[in-house]
Amino acid sequence: MTMKRFDLLTLIIVVFSACGRTSHETEMDKYISKLMSQMTIEEKIGQLNLITPGGGIPTGAAVSTDVETKIKEGNVGGIFGITGPEKIRQAQQLAVEHSRLKIPLLFGSDIIHGYKTIFPIPLGLSCSWDMELIEKTARTAAEEATADGLNWNFSPMVDISRDPRWGRVAEGAGEDPYLGSEIAKAMVRGYQGNDLTSNNTLMATVKHFALYGASEAGRDYNTVDMSRLRMYNVYLPPFRAAIDAGVGCVMTSFNDVDGIPASGNKWLLTDLLRNNWKFDGFVVSDYTSVNEMVDHGLGDLQAVSALALKAGLDMDMVGEGFLTTLKKSLEEGKLSLNDINRACRRILEAKYKLGLFSDPYRYIDESRPEKTILTAQTREIARDAAARSFVLLKNDKNLLPLKKDRNIALIGPLANNKNNMLGTWAVSGDPQLSITVLEGLKNATGNNSNIHYAKGANISDDPEFAQKVNVFGTRIDIDERTPQAMINEALMLAKRSDVVVAVIGEASEMSGESSSRSSISLPDSQKKLIRALANTKKPLILVLMTGRPLALEEEIQLADAILLTWHPGIEAGNAIADVLFGKYNPSGKLTMTFPRNVGQVPIYYNHRTTGRPNSGDEFQKFRSNYLDVPNSPQFSFGYGLSYTTFAYSNIMLSKNYMNSNEKITASIKLTNTGKVDGEEVVQLYIYDKIRSITQPVKELKGFQKIFLKAGESKDVHFTIGINELAFYHHDMSFKAEAGEFVIYIGTNSDETISDVITLTE
Ligand code: BGC
Repeated sequence: MTMKRFDLLTLIIVVFSACGRTSHETEMDKYISKLMSQMTIEEKIGQLNLITPGGGIPTGAAVSTDVETKIKEGNVGGIFGITGPEKIRQAQQLAVEHSRLKIPLLFGSDIIHGYKTIFPIPLGLSCSWDMELIEKTARTAAEEATADGLNWNFSPMVDISRDPRWGRVAEGAGEDPYLGSEIAKAMVRGYQGNDLTSNNTLMATVKHFALYGASEAGRDYNTVDMSRLRMYNVYLPPFRAAIDAGVGCVMTSFNDVDGIPASGNKWLLTDLLRNNWKFDGFVVSDYTSVNEMVDHGLGDLQAVSALALKAGLDMDMVGEGFLTTLKKSLEEGKLSLNDINRACRRILEAKYKLGLFSDPYRYIDESRPEKTILTAQTREIARDAAARSFVLLKNDKNLLPLKKDRNIALIGPLANNKNNMLGTWAVSGDPQLSITVLEGLKNATGNNSNIHYAKGANISDDPEFAQKVNVFGTRIDIDERTPQAMINEALMLAKRSDVVVAVIGEASEMSGESSSRSSISLPDSQKKLIRALANTKKPLILVLMTGRPLALEEEIQLADAILLTWHPGIEAGNAIADVLFGKYNPSGKLTMTFPRNVGQVPIYYNHRTTGRPNSGDEFQKFRSNYLDVPNSPQFSFGYGLSYTTFAYSNIMLSKNYMNSNEKITASIKLTNTGKVDGEEVVQLYIYDKIRSITQPVKELKGFQKIFLKAGESKDVHFTIGINELAFYHHDMSFKAEAGEFVIYIGTNSDETISDVITLTE
C-alpha cells in the first residue's frame, strides 16, 4: 500500500518535471501554456531553430537560406549575424506581423570582448584581475549591442585551458578555475544586469559546455577525455559559477565528453546541468554541432537530432537537423511530444524573460546607436581596460617607463598596423577605427616627437601561412621589399636612436577559432629582426602582441624589457603609450603560464603531485623531469612586474585551528616600497597536506587588487572557510578533509610566503 502511494507520488513529480513546470504556476507559465496550446508541432519545432542569414561571419561551412519565408512560416526561433535597428526591426516585423502566432525572435551575436568599442581579448582582460573593470566592459558591450537591436549574447566563454597551442585560449580567462569563476560571474552581471527586460541588458550564454579547452594536442574541435575528478575540480566550476549568477543560456561544445558529443550528451545536459545544478534557462548547440555528430559516427541526421533533443538540447544552431527531422522522429515514435514541448517551452521562457512578448520592439530604437556606440566615454573605458590588462614581463635596470624626450626607433610589423589591434572574435568591430602604436606614441608626445618608424619585418614571410591567417581580411601583409632590406632600414633607424621599441607578435587571427599552432614561437621573420636589433646594443624594449602564451626563451635573453599587451583592442596605441611613458603603472598578472618551449605543454601551476617530484630545476635521474629543459615555466601563473616594488610581511593568522563551521583570517601587510604609486594583485593559494586523492601542489583561493601610493602600507585580509578547503571527491561530493593546510600568500604562484592551519574533525 505504502509502496503504491509512493509510486503515485513519483509519477506526479515526473509528469510535472517532464513538462518543465512546478505546481506553482507563475504568470509566465500560464502565458506560455496558453500560447503552446495554440501551436502546431511545426511551430513548436520552428522555435528550436536558430539561423544565420550569413551577414556576419559564418564559422562553419553552412549558412541558412530562405530566411524570410522561414520566419513567416514560424520556422525560426532566433537569428544571429544581423545587426542594427533597421534590419532587426524588419526581421522582427516578419515574425510578429506576418507569422501566424506572432512569436517574436531572439537576436543573438558573438560579442566576445566588446561590441564596436573593442576591449582587449578576454585572455588579456583576465590579466587585469579586476572584476569591476571586467564587469564594466561587459556592461558597455551590452549597452552598445542592445542599442543596435540585439538581445542575446554568445558570451562569456569560460573554457579553462592549459594548452597554448589551442587558439581559443584567447577567448577565455586562462587556466585557473577560481579566477575563471569570478570572471564568469562578473561578465554575466555585466551583460544581464539586474533586469533582463530592460532594453539595455543582453541575455548571456556561457560556453562551450563542456571541456572544450582540453582538446587533445591543442587542436581545435579535437576529442577530449578526462576523469570526472578533473572535470569537477577544474573544468566545470566556471560554468557552475555562471549558472549560479543566473546566466540565461548555455552553449554546448563541439567535443565529446566521455565518448558522447556534448550536444547529444544526456549526462551533461540533463543529469548534471538540470537535475544537479538546477539550470532553468535554455541550451543552444554550437554552430552545426548537432550535424557534426554524424561525423562523430553516432548515426544519420535524423538519429543525431533526436539524440540531441532527448539529451536536453533545446535549440539547434544553423544545422537545421531539428527543423527537418524531429517531426518524422515523433511520428516514428523515436521521441515524445514531451521532448519537443520541453525545449519549446524553454525558448519561449527566454523570450518572456527578455520582455519580448510584451514588446517585441523593446530593443529597437533608431536613435540609440549614435548616442551609445563608440563614444568618447566608451573609448576611455577601452583605453583604461587595455592598460590594465598589460603584463610587464621584464624590465632590466628600470628601462621603463620611458622619458618622452627620448629618440625612439619604433620598429616592427605590428607598430603601425590597424588590422591586428582588435584581436580575434571582434566580429562587429572595425579595425580601421583602432589606434596604432605609432599614432598612440605620437598622440602622447605631441608634434615635436622624436619617434621614427620602420616596419623591420613581416609578421611572417610565408605566403601560404599568410593566406590561412587572412581569411577575414589582410592580417599578414607581406611587403614587396626583401626581408633583408626591411631589416637594414630598421637597423639604420635603431642606430640613430636612444632606444628601440619593437612591436612584434602574432597577427590577430593567428589565435582564435580554428587557429591552433604546433609551434608557439615567434615566426622566423620576427626572430631575425629581434636578433639584428639586439646586436645594435641599443636598449631594446619588446611590445608583445599575442592571443596566446608564446615560447620566448631567446627573446627574453635578447630584450631589456618586455611589455605583453595581448591584442589590446580599439585603443591599443593610446594605452601602450600610457604604459610606456608611465602615465599608467602596469599591474597585470598572467592568467596562463608561459612555457619555456612547446614540449612542456600542457603546463600549469596547479598541477597534481607526483610520486617522484624533482626539487628545483636541476635534472635528477629517475625523477619526473626532462633531459633537455627544466620543469619550471618561463613565467608562472600570477606573474607580472610593476614600475614600483611591493614588500610582503609575514602571514598573520587569526587562529591556527578551525572546525568546519569556523573561519580563519589570514592577513599580510603590503607595502609599496618603490618610488611610484601602483597596484598589486595579492594572491592566496592553499595546499592540502594530506588528502584521500592526489592533489594540486597549490590552488588559487582568493585574490585582491590593492592600490598603494609610493611608501604606503595596507593590511590585506583573506577569509578562509570550509569552501576554500573543500574539493570534489570520487562520489562528486564537495567536502574538506580534516588535517593541515598550507596557506600561501604572494605576488605570483611561485613567489609566496606561507603558514599552516589545521582543520579539526
Ligand atoms: C563558435 C561559437 C560561436 C558560434 C556562433 C562557433 O563556431 O564555436 O563560439 O558562438 O560559432 O558564431
